[in-house]
Amino acid sequence: MIDVALNPADVRAAEIAVVIDVLRATSTVTQALAGGYRRVLCAESIELAETLRTPGRVLAGERSCVKPEGFDQGNSPSEAIRPAGSELVLATTNGTPAVAAAAALAGTVLLACMLNLDAIVAAIFERAAGADPDVQVVCSGTNGAVALEDVYVAGRISERLTGARTDAALAAEAVARAFRDPLAALSAGADARALEAAGLSDDIPFCAQESLLDVVPTVVMAQAGVAVVTRSDDAASPASGVAEGCAGTPD
Ligand code: MLT
Repeated sequence: MIDVALNPADVRAAEIAVVIDVLRATSTVTQALAGGYRRVLCAESIELAETLRTPGRVLAGERSCVKPEGFDQGNSPSEAIRPAGSELVLATTNGTPAVAAAAALAGTVLLACMLNLDAIVAAIFERAAGADPDVQVVCSGTNGAVALEDVYVAGRISERLTGARTDAALAAEAVARAFRDPLAALSAGADARALEAAGLSDDIPFCAQESLLDVVPTVVMAQAGVAVVTRSDDAASPASGVAEGCAGTPD
């Protein structure tokens, strides 16, 4: 069954979970791995991210769209184009908690956005078992509410998959058909207004670029509120620890 969790409260156990926070967490993770970061550690809170700081790790994230105090950079994908270390630790309001939550429930967790749309659809076909795969596309939403731009991307993915669909997947596909292009969809909702108000409107066209990057961010390990994400072509290699060399180790 192809299903869509319209907000994170609807996340369930699935064979494959595909998590979306197109404005901006999953766009930033995708760009970071494309830019050369070896791993992205998605932390469910700012406090947890701070415990993961070690030499070589860059702390990135946002609260109310802007860089948290003491962090190295914000959550703009353009800031992740050139790596400033080997690993990015990312803590955002909705996206990274949704990745950590999905990682606790699904066998395979992939991160999707517009930047990697074609690569994600190909990866789902590659990994799905049988004619009716159990795929849940998870919209990170905003503070527990539906985020229009995430539902749009979910619909763009769902409409390209084969198999039976839930009503939530059909609803997401209808949203996808309602917009002439990704920029119109990503500009239409409350999250776009919040980015504009924070002076970050350039992130919207950046995140609306379609299938620019051949990167499939894949969770390779999850523990204690942190999901470790690498490119799918690195996912087979053994993952080193989440908390190597740092104080405040999550167990
Ligand atoms: C989130 O996780 O809520 C977002 O990525 C928000 C943002 O980028 O400002």
